Amino acid sequence: MLQKPLVPILRIARLLLTTSIKQQARLMSSTRKDNFFLRQLFDTENSTYTYLLADKSSREAVLIDPVLEFAERDAKLITELGLKLLFAMNTHMHADHVTGTGKLKSLLPGTKSVIGKNSGAQADVHLVEGDLVKFGDFELLAAATPGHTNGCLTYICHKQEMAFTGDAVLIRGCGRTDFQEGSAETLYHSVHSKIFTLPDNYTLYPAHDYRGQTATSVGEEKKFNPRLTKPLKEFVHIMNTLNLPYPQKIDMAIPANKVCGLY
Ligand SMILES: [Fe+2]
Repeated sequence: MLQKPLVPILRIARLLLTTSIKQQARLMSSTRKDNFFLRQLFDTENSTYTYLLADKSSREAVLIDPVLEFAERDAKLITELGLKLLFAMNTHMHADHVTGTGKLKSLLPGTKSVIGKNSGAQADVHLVEGDLVKFGDFELLAAATPGHTNGCLTYICHKQEMAFTGDAVLIRGCGRTDFQEGSAETLYHSVHSKIFTLPDNYTLYPAHDYRGQTATSVGEEKKFNPRLTKPLKEFVHIMNTLNLPYPQKIDMAIPANKVCGLY
Protein backbone atom coordinates (compact mmCIF):
# COMPACT_ATOMS: atom_id res chain seq x y z
CA MET A 1 0.00 0.00 0.00
CA LEU A 2 2.82 2.35 0.81
CA GLN A 3 4.32 1.94 -2.64
CA LYS A 4 1.24 3.01 -4.57
CA PRO A 5 1.68 6.77 -4.31
CA LEU A 6 5.27 6.46 -5.55
CA VAL A 7 4.10 5.90 -9.11
CA PRO A 8 2.59 9.33 -9.71
CA ILE A 9 5.39 10.99 -7.75
CA LEU A 10 8.00 9.31 -9.99
CA ARG A 11 6.04 10.23 -13.08
CA ILE A 12 6.07 13.90 -12.08
CA ALA A 13 9.78 13.78 -11.23
CA ARG A 14 10.57 12.24 -14.63
CA LEU A 15 8.48 14.82 -16.40
CA LEU A 16 10.33 17.62 -14.64
CA LEU A 17 13.71 16.13 -15.58
CA THR A 18 12.83 16.08 -19.25
CA THR A 19 11.38 19.59 -19.43
CA SER A 20 13.16 22.92 -19.50
CA ILE A 21 12.90 25.36 -16.59
CA LYS A 22 10.56 27.54 -18.68
CA GLN A 23 8.29 24.58 -19.43
CA GLN A 24 8.30 23.56 -15.77
CA ALA A 25 7.18 27.05 -14.72
CA ARG A 26 4.40 27.00 -17.29
CA LEU A 27 3.35 23.52 -16.19
CA MET A 28 3.22 24.54 -12.54
CA SER A 29 1.32 27.79 -13.13
CA SER A 30 -1.24 26.09 -15.36
CA THR A 31 -1.66 23.44 -12.65
CA ARG A 32 -2.52 26.24 -10.21
CA LYS A 33 -4.92 27.79 -12.77
CA ASP A 34 -3.85 31.08 -11.35
CA ASN A 35 -4.43 34.32 -13.20
CA PHE A 36 -3.90 36.35 -10.09
CA PHE A 37 -1.10 38.91 -9.93
CA LEU A 38 0.08 40.53 -6.69
CA ARG A 39 3.00 42.90 -6.18
CA GLN A 40 3.89 44.42 -2.84
CA LEU A 41 5.50 47.86 -3.11
CA PHE A 42 7.25 49.73 -0.31
CA ASP A 43 7.46 53.39 0.68
CA THR A 44 10.92 53.76 2.18
CA GLU A 45 10.06 57.00 3.99
CA ASN A 46 6.86 56.05 5.84
CA SER A 47 7.17 52.24 5.77
CA THR A 48 3.84 52.03 3.93
CA TYR A 49 2.99 49.08 1.71
CA THR A 50 1.14 49.58 -1.56
CA TYR A 51 -0.38 46.54 -3.26
CA LEU A 52 -0.92 46.09 -6.97
CA LEU A 53 -3.44 43.36 -7.75
CA ALA A 54 -4.45 42.27 -11.22
CA ASP A 55 -6.12 39.65 -13.35
CA LYS A 56 -3.45 38.48 -15.78
CA SER A 57 -6.02 37.58 -18.45
CA SER A 58 -8.16 40.69 -18.55
CA ARG A 59 -5.25 42.96 -17.43
CA GLU A 60 -7.61 44.79 -15.07
CA ALA A 61 -5.89 46.00 -11.90
CA VAL A 62 -6.46 47.76 -8.58
CA LEU A 63 -3.94 49.47 -6.34
CA ILE A 64 -4.36 49.52 -2.56
CA ASP A 65 -2.92 52.37 -0.46
CA PRO A 66 -0.70 54.23 -2.93
CA VAL A 67 1.54 57.00 -1.55
CA LEU A 68 1.76 60.41 -3.24
CA GLU A 69 5.58 60.45 -3.52
CA PHE A 70 5.57 56.99 -5.13
CA ALA A 71 2.61 57.46 -7.51
CA GLU A 72 4.91 57.89 -10.52
CA ARG A 73 6.76 54.68 -9.68
CA ASP A 74 3.44 52.83 -9.43
CA ALA A 75 2.05 54.31 -12.67
CA LYS A 76 5.26 53.36 -14.52
CA LEU A 77 5.06 49.78 -13.28
CA ILE A 78 1.38 49.50 -14.22
CA THR A 79 2.13 50.81 -17.71
CA GLU A 80 5.17 48.55 -18.14
CA LEU A 81 3.11 45.50 -17.19
CA GLY A 82 0.36 46.44 -19.63
CA LEU A 83 -2.27 46.65 -16.89
CA LYS A 84 -5.35 48.86 -16.79
CA LEU A 85 -5.82 50.46 -13.40
CA LEU A 86 -9.53 50.55 -12.56
CA PHE A 87 -9.40 51.64 -8.94
CA ALA A 88 -6.86 53.41 -6.72
CA MET A 89 -8.10 52.39 -3.28
CA ASN A 90 -7.50 53.48 0.29
CA THR A 91 -8.01 51.27 3.32
CA HIS A 92 -8.60 54.45 5.35
CA MET A 93 -7.80 58.14 5.59
CA HIS A 94 -4.12 58.05 6.48
CA ALA A 95 -2.48 60.44 8.92
CA ASP A 96 1.17 59.61 8.27
CA HIS A 97 1.34 60.26 4.52
CA VAL A 98 -0.65 61.73 1.66
CA THR A 99 -2.47 59.20 -0.50
CA GLY A 100 -1.38 58.76 -4.12
CA THR A 101 -4.89 58.16 -5.46
CA GLY A 102 -5.40 61.72 -6.73
CA LYS A 103 -2.08 61.79 -8.56
CA LEU A 104 -2.69 58.35 -10.07
CA LYS A 105 -5.97 59.58 -11.50
CA SER A 106 -4.08 62.18 -13.50
CA LEU A 107 -1.21 59.85 -14.42
CA LEU A 108 -3.52 57.05 -15.51
CA PRO A 109 -6.74 58.64 -16.81
CA GLY A 110 -9.85 56.54 -16.24
CA THR A 111 -8.73 55.43 -12.78
CA LYS A 112 -11.30 55.94 -10.03
CA SER A 113 -10.40 56.77 -6.43
CA VAL A 114 -11.97 54.67 -3.68
CA ILE A 115 -12.35 55.02 0.09
CA GLY A 116 -14.76 53.96 2.83
CA LYS A 117 -17.88 56.12 3.15
CA ASN A 118 -17.36 56.54 6.88
CA SER A 119 -13.95 58.12 6.35
CA GLY A 120 -15.64 61.41 5.46
CA ALA A 121 -13.13 61.87 2.61
CA GLN A 122 -14.02 62.76 -0.95
CA ALA A 123 -13.47 60.17 -3.70
CA ASP A 124 -15.13 58.83 -6.84
CA VAL A 125 -16.37 55.67 -5.11
CA HIS A 126 -17.43 55.33 -1.47
CA LEU A 127 -17.60 51.81 -0.07
CA VAL A 128 -19.63 50.37 2.76
CA GLU A 129 -19.63 46.97 4.44
CA GLY A 130 -20.30 44.18 1.95
CA ASP A 131 -19.44 46.12 -1.23
CA LEU A 132 -17.47 44.25 -3.89
CA VAL A 133 -14.71 45.76 -6.00
CA LYS A 134 -14.23 43.65 -9.13
CA PHE A 135 -11.20 43.39 -11.42
CA GLY A 136 -11.31 40.66 -14.05
CA ASP A 137 -12.16 37.33 -12.44
CA PHE A 138 -11.35 38.57 -8.95
CA GLU A 139 -13.09 40.72 -6.37
CA LEU A 140 -12.33 42.42 -3.09
CA LEU A 141 -14.97 42.39 -0.41
CA ALA A 142 -15.08 45.50 1.76
CA ALA A 143 -15.35 44.66 5.46
CA ALA A 144 -15.83 47.55 7.88
CA THR A 145 -13.09 47.36 10.53
CA PRO A 146 -13.29 50.70 12.40
CA GLY A 147 -11.27 51.49 15.51
CA HIS A 148 -8.01 52.93 14.15
CA THR A 149 -10.26 55.38 12.28
CA ASN A 150 -14.03 55.44 11.73
CA GLY A 151 -13.79 54.59 8.06
CA CYS A 152 -11.25 51.75 8.10
CA LEU A 153 -11.97 48.95 5.63
CA THR A 154 -10.32 45.56 5.26
CA TYR A 155 -10.34 44.27 1.69
CA ILE A 156 -10.82 40.50 1.52
CA CYS A 157 -10.05 38.38 -1.55
CA HIS A 158 -11.64 35.02 -0.71
CA LYS A 159 -10.59 33.45 -4.00
CA GLN A 160 -6.92 33.98 -3.15
CA GLU A 161 -7.38 33.47 0.61
CA MET A 162 -5.94 36.83 1.58
CA ALA A 163 -6.95 40.15 3.12
CA PHE A 164 -5.53 43.66 3.10
CA THR A 165 -5.98 44.92 6.62
CA GLY A 166 -4.80 48.53 6.45
CA ASP A 167 -3.87 49.58 9.99
CA ALA A 168 -6.43 47.35 11.74
CA VAL A 169 -4.02 44.42 12.04
CA LEU A 170 -0.28 44.96 11.60
CA ILE A 171 2.26 42.14 11.85
CA ARG A 172 2.36 41.42 15.60
CA GLY A 173 0.71 44.79 16.20
CA CYS A 174 -2.16 47.10 15.26
CA GLY A 175 -2.79 50.71 14.32
CA ARG A 176 -2.88 53.32 17.08
CA THR A 177 -6.24 54.43 18.42
CA ASP A 178 -5.40 57.76 20.05
CA PHE A 179 -6.48 60.15 17.26
CA GLN A 180 -8.81 60.36 14.20
CA GLU A 181 -11.83 59.15 16.23
CA GLY A 182 -9.80 56.11 17.26
CA SER A 183 -11.25 53.65 19.76
CA ALA A 184 -9.35 50.69 21.19
CA GLU A 185 -12.57 48.92 22.10
CA THR A 186 -14.00 49.34 18.60
CA LEU A 187 -10.76 48.13 17.01
CA TYR A 188 -10.72 45.03 19.22
CA HIS A 189 -14.29 44.12 18.23
CA SER A 190 -13.59 44.80 14.53
CA VAL A 191 -10.53 42.55 14.45
CA HIS A 192 -12.10 39.73 16.44
CA SER A 193 -15.36 39.73 14.48
CA LYS A 194 -14.16 40.47 10.93
CA ILE A 195 -10.51 39.40 10.61
CA PHE A 196 -9.84 36.71 13.21
CA THR A 197 -12.98 34.90 12.01
CA LEU A 198 -11.38 34.32 8.59
CA PRO A 199 -9.73 30.90 8.08
CA ASP A 200 -6.31 30.60 9.77
CA ASN A 201 -4.48 30.09 6.49
CA TYR A 202 -5.57 33.44 5.01
CA THR A 203 -2.56 35.68 4.35
CA LEU A 204 -2.83 39.16 5.85
CA TYR A 205 -1.15 42.11 4.16
CA PRO A 206 -0.89 45.21 6.38
CA ALA A 207 -0.53 48.88 5.41
CA HIS A 208 2.80 49.19 7.22
CA ASP A 209 5.65 47.30 8.77
CA TYR A 210 8.55 48.83 10.64
CA ARG A 211 10.55 45.67 11.30
CA GLY A 212 11.16 44.30 7.83
CA GLN A 213 8.34 41.76 7.68
CA THR A 214 6.03 41.64 4.68
CA ALA A 215 2.96 39.57 5.52
CA THR A 216 1.38 37.39 8.16
CA SER A 217 -1.60 35.06 8.50
CA VAL A 218 -4.80 34.93 10.50
CA GLY A 219 -3.54 31.89 12.43
CA GLU A 220 -0.23 33.56 13.29
CA GLU A 221 -1.79 36.76 14.58
CA LYS A 222 -4.40 34.86 16.61
CA LYS A 223 -1.49 33.11 18.29
CA PHE A 224 1.31 35.65 18.47
CA ASN A 225 -0.11 39.19 18.26
CA PRO A 226 1.09 40.68 21.55
CA ARG A 227 -1.89 43.06 21.82
CA LEU A 228 -4.86 41.46 20.10
CA THR A 229 -4.49 38.09 21.83
CA LYS A 230 -5.14 39.77 25.19
CA PRO A 231 -8.61 40.09 26.76
CA LEU A 232 -10.45 43.29 25.80
CA LYS A 233 -9.75 45.15 29.04
CA GLU A 234 -6.03 44.49 28.87
CA PHE A 235 -5.95 45.46 25.19
CA VAL A 236 -7.65 48.79 25.93
CA HIS A 237 -5.14 49.46 28.71
CA ILE A 238 -2.19 48.70 26.40
CA MET A 239 -3.55 50.99 23.69
CA ASN A 240 -4.32 53.81 26.11
CA THR A 241 -0.82 53.80 27.57
CA LEU A 242 1.32 53.61 24.43
CA ASN A 243 2.32 57.29 24.71
CA LEU A 244 3.18 57.55 21.04
CA PRO A 245 4.55 60.78 19.56
CA TYR A 246 2.25 63.03 17.53
CA PRO A 247 2.48 61.89 13.86
CA GLN A 248 4.90 64.17 12.03
CA LYS A 249 2.80 64.68 8.91
CA ILE A 250 -0.70 64.60 10.39
CA ASP A 251 -1.44 68.33 10.01
CA MET A 252 -0.58 68.19 6.34
CA ALA A 253 -1.76 64.65 5.56
CA ILE A 254 -5.32 64.73 6.91
CA PRO A 255 -6.53 67.85 5.03
CA ALA A 256 -4.92 66.49 1.84
CA ASN A 257 -6.42 63.04 2.31
CA LYS A 258 -9.89 64.50 2.90
CA VAL A 259 -9.95 65.20 -0.84
CA CYS A 260 -8.00 62.07 -1.76
CA GLY A 261 -9.60 61.38 -5.06
CA LEU A 262 -9.91 64.84 -6.41
CA TYR A 263 -6.81 66.94 -6.17
FE1 LIG B 1 -3.38 54.82 9.51
